[in-house]
Amino acid sequence: MKREYSCLKTGYNNRLSLCAIAVAAFGGVFLSAADSVTLSVDLEAEGKPISADLVGIFYEDLNYAADGGLYAELIQNRSFEYSPTENASWGPLSFWDLVEGGEGSGHLGLGNMRPVHENNPHYLMLNVEIAGTGVGIANNGFDQIPVEAGKSYAFSFWAYQAYMGKKWGGAPEEEEKPMPMLARLESESGEVLAEAEFVVQGREWKQHSATLVPTVATEKARLVLLAKEAGGIALDMVSLFPHDTFKGRQNGLRKDLAQTIADLKPKFMRFPGGCLVHGQGIHQYYNWKDSVGPVEQRKAFRNSWGYHQTLGLGYYEFFQFSEDMGAIPIPVVSAGVCCQHAGDSPGRGQEGMPLDEMPDYIEDVLDLVQWANGPADSEWGSVRAAAGQAEPFGLKYLGVGNEDAITSIFEVRFKMIRDAVAERYPDIVVVGTVGPFASGEDYDNGWKFAREEGLKMVDEHYYVSPQWLWDNLDRYDAYSRSDAEVYLGEYAAHEPDRRNTLRSAIAEAAGLTSFERNSDIVRFASYAPLLSRRGHTQWTPDLIYFDATNVYPSLNYEVQRLFSVNGGDRGLEFSLTGLSEGEKLTASVVRDSKSGDLIVKIVNGGSEARTLAVDLSSGPRERYSLDDTVFGHDDADLVNEDGALPAVVSVAGKGEVAAVFERVYPANSLTILRLR
Ligand code: AHR
Repeated sequence: MKREYSCLKTGYNNRLSLCAIAVAAFGGVFLSAADSVTLSVDLEAEGKPISADLVGIFYEDLNYAADGGLYAELIQNRSFEYSPTENASWGPLSFWDLVEGGEGSGHLGLGNMRPVHENNPHYLMLNVEIAGTGVGIANNGFDQIPVEAGKSYAFSFWAYQAYMGKKWGGAPEEEEKPMPMLARLESESGEVLAEAEFVVQGREWKQHSATLVPTVATEKARLVLLAKEAGGIALDMVSLFPHDTFKGRQNGLRKDLAQTIADLKPKFMRFPGGCLVHGQGIHQYYNWKDSVGPVEQRKAFRNSWGYHQTLGLGYYEFFQFSEDMGAIPIPVVSAGVCCQHAGDSPGRGQEGMPLDEMPDYIEDVLDLVQWANGPADSEWGSVRAAAGQAEPFGLKYLGVGNEDAITSIFEVRFKMIRDAVAERYPDIVVVGTVGPFASGEDYDNGWKFAREEGLKMVDEHYYVSPQWLWDNLDRYDAYSRSDAEVYLGEYAAHEPDRRNTLRSAIAEAAGLTSFERNSDIVRFASYAPLLSRRGHTQWTPDLIYFDATNVYPSLNYEVQRLFSVNGGDRGLEFSLTGLSEGEKLTASVVRDSKSGDLIVKIVNGGSEARTLAVDLSSGPRERYSLDDTVFGHDDADLVNEDGALPAVVSVAGKGEVAAVFERVYPANSLTILRLR
């Protein structure tokens, strides 16, 4: 893009009379030429090939994004693995209450001698001394369990019978008796909404399940599981899922939240983090193998953000979600170093995995590729197939490292991993990392290392002020076209108070025009973070907020969506003339070869509406039909408030314009013009 500043508002051409007609036809407001800037598009050239996959998502389990978030499980601490290492006030029995019905009495204990699986070491021992009307446990979920009337919920638990009657000195014939059990969904006032009966018998772990259909809807149900006779029952994996998950998947995703994400039409999904990937200690990294296979065999752990991660939402579910959305999966693995802020170190606490452990670690990374892409009868491909996906997932990109300090400790380990992947799977693009900032030591060293190693792609991150994005619109113009491509894996405009203002969203729109103009080398870009549960937020701003029953997309979300659904595969040259110095007005122009549409995006970050003429006179056409979308508001400080109507919504229109047409672009706005 040529950006030409002029106080004299030059660059207007002799088609002005046509503009007036065009704007009148379109129903726009006509202002005089002296108020206009002109965006002239070069339609003689074909334009350069650009990434058709520019806008995607970065998913990290932060702000309760997984458990209590996207993962549809409604029970909190279902496998009794909560721990004080995650939260000082937590333990294996957290979020469970003892229920003693009628004259009943009993107590809860913790077992670890005969776990369901070694990866899931703890379970609950429910000891019932006097059965009364039932003694058992209750769970209120993540703050609350919302249920809908007439909808089906899959309830299940694992159990074995430890003893019947008295624990010591009971009658021997008692031991043969089965234990009758009852599961209920109850309202806050104790009204029974749904129930199911079970019989637990024998010393082996067995899964029991039933469908519960509440008769009445409530936002605050609780799940109760009762033993109806005296005795001891071991319980684990007590679970409640809506049947109605995203795409009806088992062990699936919360439908409204997943749909909101899918509505972004993300072209790729990076997961599972962020800082979560390398973890707070050398052996605390996210091990993908712990996250696949039957859920009761997955290895829950503390995530870097200081809470519990069941890994019920694991690699299989990430790949499946990517596939369901038509997004390219981009998993990220640790580069064999922990976070430089680990071990309570505020600075460089980076440690490397002992070198003699690296070969095994590297095998795990290679196994991931086989798990994703290998035939169903390969060692790891068979694990994928057993989960229900016989066809390969088609992995093409693999992130190695996240914002790591670029030290020799990092470089040695990264290189070992990269070389092994390149040797065994030469088609996989290994995505490197160039530190946490837009510039500085790690950025410089990361890029230097990437050049030396001939990396094909690196992951840049920056959280910056809205003004920074406006000041750096030309950042990628100067990047060498022969270096690694850029994946801008994390970015956001941060206000001083870190609210999701319209100002921040419009600054991101401006940034996106520059990424798009340079998307011959900026292949992917994802806003971060994606999700945040109200009341459990460690980081703001985020793209989508939610609570137990509602989803609140931010204004920033709408900008991401508009860019995502209006992408192209050819970038066209254009000039912007008549701008004043420092004026917050920018644009990008692409063509979508499939539809043939020409898509012009114009961002006005100023506090005044701006008149601009679009000049397509270099092309063969005299008139175009136009679909336009305008997203903006006079007040840049607006944010979407919970429960209120969205502060700003996109307004769509249709019309016809001449090859040169003028219109007004509101203050703080993003306008998409789709011309055909
Ligand atoms: O997006 C939140 C965090 O920001 C990510 O975990 C990390 O990569 C970055 O510092």
